[in-house]
Amino acid sequence: MLDKAPFPYAAGFRSLTQEITTPVPLEVQGQLPAWLTGTLLRTGPSKFEVGDRTYNHWFDGLAMLHRFAFDKGRVTYASRFLESNAFAAANETGKITYGEFATDPCRTLFGRVAAIFSQELTANCNVNVADFGGDIVALTETTLPMRFAPETLATLGVLVYEPPLTGQVSNAHPHYDAVRMRHYSYMIAFGMQSRYRLFSIGDDGTQVQLAELPVDRPAYMHSFAMSENHLALVEFPLTVSALELKFSGKPFIRNYRWQPERGLKFHVFAKDGGRTVATAQGDAAFAFHHVNAFEDGDDLVIDMVVYADAKIIDELYLARLRAGMQIDATGLLTRYRVPLTGNGPITYKTLAPVPIELPRINYEVHTGKPYRYVWGAGIAVEGDFLDSIVKIDTETGDVARWYEAGLYPGEPVFVPAPSTQAEDAGVLLSVVLDVSTDTSFLLVLDATTLEEKARAEAPHAIPFHFHGNYFAALPGGFAP
Ligand SMILES: [Fe+2]
Repeated sequence: MLDKAPFPYAAGFRSLTQEITTPVPLEVQGQLPAWLTGTLLRTGPSKFEVGDRTYNHWFDGLAMLHRFAFDKGRVTYASRFLESNAFAAANETGKITYGEFATDPCRTLFGRVAAIFSQELTANCNVNVADFGGDIVALTETTLPMRFAPETLATLGVLVYEPPLTGQVSNAHPHYDAVRMRHYSYMIAFGMQSRYRLFSIGDDGTQVQLAELPVDRPAYMHSFAMSENHLALVEFPLTVSALELKFSGKPFIRNYRWQPERGLKFHVFAKDGGRTVATAQGDAAFAFHHVNAFEDGDDLVIDMVVYADAKIIDELYLARLRAGMQIDATGLLTRYRVPLTGNGPITYKTLAPVPIELPRINYEVHTGKPYRYVWGAGIAVEGDFLDSIVKIDTETGDVARWYEAGLYPGEPVFVPAPSTQAEDAGVLLSVVLDVSTDTSFLLVLDATTLEEKARAEAPHAIPFHFHGNYFAALPGGFAP
């Protein structure tokens, strides 16, 4: 039976423990494009309770993989828990055994040293999915990508490179450069001297360190920027002391402090060779998601979904979300211009005055390059959770919106239509919670007009989750 819901979208934060390991055909209302013949692979938190404990934060839940496979106007759905170390230990012991973003295991297991410094980093990859040189991996913010079989969703194990780069924290939003045929990302090594390490992974499976930057207090960063020739780390003033992280006895993110006096710090690196091209300072702000970046004359343009501060992290604790408490923090699409030469000032402006999160672009063609359109989940009704899909025209600031009361869509993944040059020609794929039926469905929108093309109902409600990618041909395709 349904939980008694204190607010409309409560099912979005309810655990889903049922797996569908054999793909089931979904009934399609409307018409799927005949050219849509790939696979949407997504990951997200799905189980929030272990034994008598509940994870603290939305970002902590045990990962489930979701697969929507398209063929000739039909779609099937399958799902399976990612069998990570954290998942296995939870099942075996009935206890939370690995430290997550905002939840630590029972302290008697690890004494006073934080889980992030033990040999027991979590591989609960509930954030994103990528293709690293033919290995389909689920990602979280530790340095343990988990391989899985895209056809069966069976977990294959941690992806290990030799020699491994050392670091505890990494990034679940790697970028892919189709010209260089490499993914780019970074990790953070905490220690007496903490370091950011930028690295790349080739389609041939090689991993190379590009640059290393010593850092006093590492920042919490969820993504980074890539243009045609540059990589940029944007340090938000939410920073941590490695010593405190190690010995405070608090869960990972609770060691980070908001220090607005530090402002924003931009570190721009050459993609080839890794040298530091520019550093710059801006006004304090916070973001999870970079949207795109490109070179424009002597400037590096960096677009992000920007919050005034980091309170959004606090607003996403599970107890708050499950109580239906309103989220006040607002993320706005914001454009920064960072001078690549000289000492010119940083400038920034809001591109559209509407909340947006989980942003996507036409990645395959426009990543790192000038572009026009951003799609994301939006908020149509003030105080509501993500309740709509928006399209922002970065040139005009125009906003288009898809909204139906009682529906709560997640990240809209853009899939380009074949044989077209138009940036916004294609479809958006979004998993939507329908509170009236207590189920989720896959929504297919025309990316140009945001008109509905089709929807296909899943057998149950799927908890709100984060990211995924569409793979036109497995293995391969463009996976940011
Ligand atoms: Fe993200």
